[in-house]
Amino acid sequence: MSSLQPFKIPIVDLRAQFAGIRSEIDEAIDEVLESQQFILGPTVKRFEKQMAAYLGCEHAVGVASGSDALLLALMALEVGPGDAVLVTPFTFFSTVSSITRLGATPLFVDIDPDNYLLSAKATAAFLDERGRRESAQTLDAKTGLRLKALLPVHLFGQCCAMTEFTALAEKYHLRIVEDVAQACGARATVAGHLKFAGAIGDLGCFSFFPSKTLGGFGDGGLVTTGDGELAAKLRMLRRHGESTKYHHQVTGINSRLDSLQAAVLAVKQRHLEQWCQARIERAKNYHRLFTETGLLEENILRIPPQTTNRSHIFNNYIITVRRRDELKQCLAEQGIQSEVYYPVPLHLQACFAALGYKKGDFPQAELAAKEVLALPLYPELTSAQQESVVEAIEQFYGA
Ligand SMILES: Cc1ncc(COP(=O)(O)O)c(C=O)c1O
Repeated sequence: MSSLQPFKIPIVDLRAQFAGIRSEIDEAIDEVLESQQFILGPTVKRFEKQMAAYLGCEHAVGVASGSDALLLALMALEVGPGDAVLVTPFTFFSTVSSITRLGATPLFVDIDPDNYLLSAKATAAFLDERGRRESAQTLDAKTGLRLKALLPVHLFGQCCAMTEFTALAEKYHLRIVEDVAQACGARATVAGHLKFAGAIGDLGCFSFFPSKTLGGFGDGGLVTTGDGELAAKLRMLRRHGESTKYHHQVTGINSRLDSLQAAVLAVKQRHLEQWCQARIERAKNYHRLFTETGLLEENILRIPPQTTNRSHIFNNYIITVRRRDELKQCLAEQGIQSEVYYPVPLHLQACFAALGYKKGDFPQAELAAKEVLALPLYPELTSAQQESVVEAIEQFYGA
């Protein structure tokens, strides 16, 4: 199939979603156009309040992207040279570049092969071996760096083991910055209570990139926190560090959420619960269809476990397969789009070579990078389309 031809079954289809909410969106955009107030302003404020209420956290600060949300969150915690942040090597680039851009050091910990998330067990082992507690801080015994924060990523829409991470953060005086870019709407169980991802750690970082569970009409992001001081700092940092106009307390950046994006996102948020449910139902349907193929018993293919409590809202539906790249090619030839998130784990990226990691350091992340494949999944995906996807995969392995 030529790359110029649209896929018969795309990995995500935003046109279908737009068709269902067009009149609501038109109205919201018109209101902003009438006001001619495009930067921050009342629309952004309203959306921030809406998100804080939805997520059950005190403060929400709209910013220009998910990448900026991470950068600003770490800036608010004053992460910098001499500091280290514990993080997964199997994530989107900016989870880690947000650390290095501030002159701090990412210390990678391998993933749990069952769910591709930062392993709580490996993190505990790392801290027990290398964490040297000194009054109110913890140093890394190997590098001498200050261990400042844990950065769990709720990858693919799935929540990390937050009970374990919260306990580790307490024990070792670490802050928790959650990367919620792929999991807006997911809930994690913390000490027996279900809480929204992003409302558990010290700060939650959201992305409104169009393909996310809550996506805008361009870039956008949000930082959430329960800490009023951090929220005030974030509001300053996103406006060049201004406390009042042209009075700069700190060196910030320009990273504001547009009013137009806030207007679109406020409409979409009202549908988010229903869309997350539709994603979960489609994941269940894949589960049923794949189980019927027999490929699971033969260990040719692994699918995500079923979710019962919204801890996975399937921003992406990820299977693990043998001969992944051949399968991807074969699906593309039949008009079925699939994607690899992510082909190169971050400890092996050229730009991070100076960190000194090498192949073999994180075997689970490296294996996942070779085997994962994302299949089409979005709220409007039909059962017939899902059957076509599974049939094509079954035929590939049958042949
Ligand atoms: C896990 C993760 N973190 C951070 C980001 C960055 O978000 P944005 O693209 O809005 O800058 C993304 C976006 O793809 C992501 O998937």
